[in-house]
Amino acid sequence: MKWNKNKNIIVGLACMVAGLATNAQNKDKPMHEEHRPQFHFSPKAHWINDPNGMVYYKGVYHLFFQYHPGSSIWGPMHWGHATSTDLVHWKELPVAIYPDSLGTIFSGSAVVDENNTSGFGKDGIVPLVAVFTQHDMVGEKAGRNNFQNQSLAYSLDEGKTWIKYAGNPVLKNPGIVDFRDPKVMWYAPQKKWIMTLATKDRITFYASPDLKNWEKQSEFGQSIGAHGGVWECPDLFSMDDNGKQVWVLIVNLNPGGPNGGSSTQYFLGDFDGKTFTPGSEQTKWLDYGPDDYAGITWSNTGNRKIFLGWMSNWNYANLVPTETWRNAMTIPRELSLKHTGNDLLIASAPVKELNNATPKPVVMNNLLLSGNTVLNKKISMATLPCRIDINMHELKDWSLILSNELGEELTVGFDKSMNQYYIDRSKSGKIDFQKDFGARHVAPRFTTASNMDMTLIIDVSSVELFADNGLTVMTEIFFPNKPYKKINIQSTEAAVINRLAYTKLDSIWK
Ligand code: FRU
Repeated sequence: MKWNKNKNIIVGLACMVAGLATNAQNKDKPMHEEHRPQFHFSPKAHWINDPNGMVYYKGVYHLFFQYHPGSSIWGPMHWGHATSTDLVHWKELPVAIYPDSLGTIFSGSAVVDENNTSGFGKDGIVPLVAVFTQHDMVGEKAGRNNFQNQSLAYSLDEGKTWIKYAGNPVLKNPGIVDFRDPKVMWYAPQKKWIMTLATKDRITFYASPDLKNWEKQSEFGQSIGAHGGVWECPDLFSMDDNGKQVWVLIVNLNPGGPNGGSSTQYFLGDFDGKTFTPGSEQTKWLDYGPDDYAGITWSNTGNRKIFLGWMSNWNYANLVPTETWRNAMTIPRELSLKHTGNDLLIASAPVKELNNATPKPVVMNNLLLSGNTVLNKKISMATLPCRIDINMHELKDWSLILSNELGEELTVGFDKSMNQYYIDRSKSGKIDFQKDFGARHVAPRFTTASNMDMTLIIDVSSVELFADNGLTVMTEIFFPNKPYKKINIQSTEAAVINRLAYTKLDSIWK
C-alpha cells in the first residue's frame, strides 16, 4: 500500500464542521466532554496517533505522540508531549518537536545516552536523544521515493525542550517509499546502538557507535508473518524466560490485522547484534481487538517492559465521532513471557500502578448467573470508568453487557463452543461513520486450563479485555449516544462466577 493517511480526511472534515456547534458547551470542561476517556490519556484538544519517544528518566515517564496542533484530523505531524510519574495520571506539556525544512515529525523513539556517545551532553549532563522520521511532504508530492529520512534531536533538561541536530538527517533514504519509525536500543554486549526500522514489507536493522552514523546490519521478515499491509512502528527488546534470554520483535501492520485494519504482530527469537532469527514463523498478535495500534515499549525501564498503544485504527481514526480532540492511548501494559502448551506467548497486564491509583474493589463471591444478573442491583455504584475482575472455576459461556436507556449495548464475552472471546459493538451507538465499525470481533483462547480469569478496563468509550492472565487481549472503542449506565452479566448455561471484583476508577482529569 502506498503511504497515505488522507483516506478519510474529507469525511472527517465534514464531521468536524458539524461538531463545531456543540463544541461550545464543552469548552469549559474539555476533559469531560462527550466520549472523552476518563482513565486514558488523550490530549486536551486536537488530533493524536502513535505514541512516540517513550523514555523513563529520573522517575518520570515521558510520552511523546504524533500530534496535529490546530486540528482534530491527521495532518503535518509534530511530537506532542505528556509526562507521568505513575503511568496513570498524565500532565500534557507544550509541543516538543516541530516540523522544519526537512519535513514533518513522524514516529520514533528516545534513549538516555548515559555514556554521551553522541557528544550532545554538556558539563556532565546526560543527553536524552530522540530519533524520528522526517517526512518531506514536498518530496512526496513530487513523487520522489526518498521523502522519509531519520533525524535526531536532543534534550539537556530532562526532556522539557529539544534541540535538533545540525547534521540531520542521520540516516538517508536509499529509495524506499516506506522508510520510517526508528526504535533505538543500546546493545550492551557489543557496546553499540541498534536501530530497528520499518522498511515497507520488512524490518531493517542498523547499528551505530554514536547515534549519528548508521550502518545497515540485516533485514528481516519479507516472507515471514502477516503482510496484509505496510509494516510500521517496530520495537526490539529482550525478555527473560526462566533465565533464558528471548528477543521480542514487535511489528505493527496496517492494514491486515486479525479483525481488520491496523494491528500489532510480534516475533520471538534471537538477536546477535546483527541478525534477528525467529524461533517460530507463526504469526502472533499482541492484541486481537481493532483498537490497539502502533504500540511500542518505554526505554530505560530495566527488565520491566511497559507497552502502550494508540487506541484507534486507521480504518476510521479520522472519522470517530469526537469533536475538539480525536483518539486516545491504551492503558499502559506490562509484558511478560508465558508458556502455554508447546507455545511461548507474550501476555499483557494493566500495569500494577493502576492498583495504587484506585479505591478498594467491591468483591462478590459465588455469583450465580442464572439468566441475567444486573450488576447495578448488586453493587449500587456500578458505573464507568471501572475495572472488573472475574474468576470462574469452570469453563462456561458468559457475556457482560454495557447498555443505556436507548437500548444501545456493547457485549464482551466468551463462546465456549468456539473457544473464542468476543466483543460485539454492532449495537453500541454511533457506528455508521464507517462501514466496518459496527461489527463483532473474535479472539482465540490459548490456554486449555479449566478455570478462567478476565480483567476488563472499561472507560466511557473503550474496553480492554485481558483474559487468562493476559494471554488473549482485545481493545475496542465505542460511542454510545447516551453514556452506558447499566452492566449486566449473563450466561446461556448455569454458571457461577466464583469471584467478581468491581473497582470504580476515578477520573484522572480534575
Ligand atoms: C503509524 C504511522 C507511522 C508514521 C505515523 C505518521 O500509525 O503511519 O508509520 O510514522 O503514523 O503519523
